[in-house]
Amino acid sequence: MKKNILVTGASSGFGLLIANELQKKGYNVIGTSRNPEKYAGKLSFKMIALDLDSEQSINTFSERIFKEIGHLDILINNAGFLVSGIAEETPIELGRQQLETNFWGTIKVTNAVLPHFRKQKFGKIITVGSIIGLVSFPNAAYYAASKHALEGYFKSLRYELNEFNISVAMIEPAAFKTSILDNSSTSLKKIEDYNTLRNNIEKFSANLAEQAEDPIMVAEKVLKVVQTEKPKFRNIVGKGTSALINLQHFAYGILEKNVLKQLNKV
Ligand SMILES: NC(=O)c1ccc[n+]([C@@H]2O[C@H](COP(=O)([O-])OP(=O)(O)OC[C@H]3O[C@@H](n4cnc5c(N)ncnc54)[C@H](OP(=O)(O)O)[C@@H]3O)[C@@H](O)[C@H]2O)c1
Repeated sequence: MKKNILVTGASSGFGLLIANELQKKGYNVIGTSRNPEKYAGKLSFKMIALDLDSEQSINTFSERIFKEIGHLDILINNAGFLVSGIAEETPIELGRQQLETNFWGTIKVTNAVLPHFRKQKFGKIITVGSIIGLVSFPNAAYYAASKHALEGYFKSLRYELNEFNISVAMIEPAAFKTSILDNSSTSLKKIEDYNTLRNNIEKFSANLAEQAEDPIMVAEKVLKVVQTEKPKFRNIVGKGTSALINLQHFAYGILEKNVLKQLNKV
């Protein structure tokens, strides 16, 4: 029997590439979008409606998904967006929105499929986090918070679901050329004290956008995780990321030694 795979946010960027790649490899893919009607007859896979910000949409989606496809083997939590901007300048409401979509929306969709996975004693949950969920960058504090939250949450879930033969993995991409920046939200409020930092960030971000890689790499990484029976939790993808992570571990080692030194003085 063909494996059924659900990909959230399959209308553009990573999601679209992941869905196409999996469909090409013989999986039966179901994608989601807030506006599936826009893609009717244009895609090689079926699209159904899902808005991570709407409780009603998630409930309708949960009722519909198993009626339509009978069973589900793999959930790929990919949908999400970016709130950029200096943290203090960002209205709390916008920050809350970031967590609502990227974190809570993802958790609600996961909860909708878990009873099914537990019953069949099989399933795989793959969530697109970010390298920013491992190392924070300036100008994206709420985005970083949402992706760090996903890392922590799914790390716990991995232990809890082990006995049901449900595997849990993260994909942590660096910077890739998708529509994420065009679809991002930012604050209009500007605090003068941050002007110098803002200028530096603009240069840094322009550089990062220029170096951003081909998103097909992410789809290929997801395919590998789909094909691996027991995938590892962290799956970093993109240029220079392992150096960043090593640096983080190295820096933490120094920090820890310093703290221990301070404690020993007391
Ligand atoms: N691009 C990068 O460099 C990068 C790096 C690390 C991680 N990521 C992560 O990769 C994932 C995909 O992003 P992308 O770069 O491919 O961006 P994208 O091209 O903007 O695609 C975002 C997708 O998410 C869906 N989506 C957005 N908000 C939604 C909501 N409230 N409810 C339901 N669906 C929603 C969109 O679908 P509709 O608009 O059709 O509903 C779209 O299909 C995100 O989780 C992002 O954080 C991206």
